[in-house]
Amino acid sequence: MLRDIQDEILKLKKEKDICILAHSYQAREIVEIADITGDSYKLSVEAAKVKSRNILMCGVHFMAETAKMLSPDKRVFLANPEAGCPMAEQMEPEMIAALKAAEPDRKVVCYINTTAKLKAVCDVCVTSSSAVKIVRGMEDKKILFIPDCNLGSFVAEECPDKDIKLLQGGCPVHASVTVRDMENARAAHPDALVLVHPECIPAVTKMADYAGSTSGIMDFAAKSDAKEFIIGTEISIAEHLQYRFPEKKFYVLSKKIICPNMKLTTLMDVYSTVKAIGEGDSEGAFEIKMTEEEISAAIGCINEMIRLGG
Ligand code: 13P
Ligand code: SF4
Repeated sequence: MLRDIQDEILKLKKEKDICILAHSYQAREIVEIADITGDSYKLSVEAAKVKSRNILMCGVHFMAETAKMLSPDKRVFLANPEAGCPMAEQMEPEMIAALKAAEPDRKVVCYINTTAKLKAVCDVCVTSSSAVKIVRGMEDKKILFIPDCNLGSFVAEECPDKDIKLLQGGCPVHASVTVRDMENARAAHPDALVLVHPECIPAVTKMADYAGSTSGIMDFAAKSDAKEFIIGTEISIAEHLQYRFPEKKFYVLSKKIICPNMKLTTLMDVYSTVKAIGEGDSEGAFEIKMTEEEISAAIGCINEMIRLGG
């Protein structure tokens, strides 16, 4: 039974001093046994404060890498080593370094959904919940925003005084939502408010009643007096909200918004990882290994995010 596995995980994580962090896109049964659940921003802020000896990330690779950089003295594990974010791999550090060299007065702002190697050539990192605040707070006018051109367009709309250059990149899952999906969802649920993630294309974001990060969407639904909501982000969010607010009704904007990488992690992955974590080398658990040089090259733009976004 699921509950037996969950109980076993809870017991082992206590015995072995493991803190479980789970992104909100994780499945219900994983969110239930996590110590901390949240969007990318919350996970990075909390990762820096963890007291336990071990961190187990249930999410995708860049999240575990970020946790390792923020807590370098901890052992950080990723529950499923195959879980990566395609957006994080979209741009080569050499290409961004060349663009920077060509236009040195343009600051490079990168979404947290990037590899540490790419972060190493960027100036400031942002998450979807902190992007507008951070870009607004920057003294620099000229910005190159990578890799998500949809989130970048959203930031550019909100910060009209900045000169923001974008490159073609983004989340294939959120970008799959079309204007037709919006029209269909509104027609099916005319009384519902539509809440979308800014990783969706601008034409979709502009049609929404609210656009914001995963926690922004969840907070909006929590505080709103409305009774029905169409959720335009990973479909797990509609499910988590439905558990929290059974008196409200949550619909998915599109059945296509399922992240295959976020969904790769199963409760059994979490169980086998906590079982495998030992005192020394933990065979069977996927540990994030980074050299001091790799961390110090990339940590600057993450620290800048925390400084400007906190
Ligand atoms: P947030 O967690 O910042 O909302 O981003 C969503 C996402 O796609 C994470 O990979
Ligand atoms: Fe990457 Fe999109 Fe999946 Fe988030 S939802 S992990 S951005 S592919």
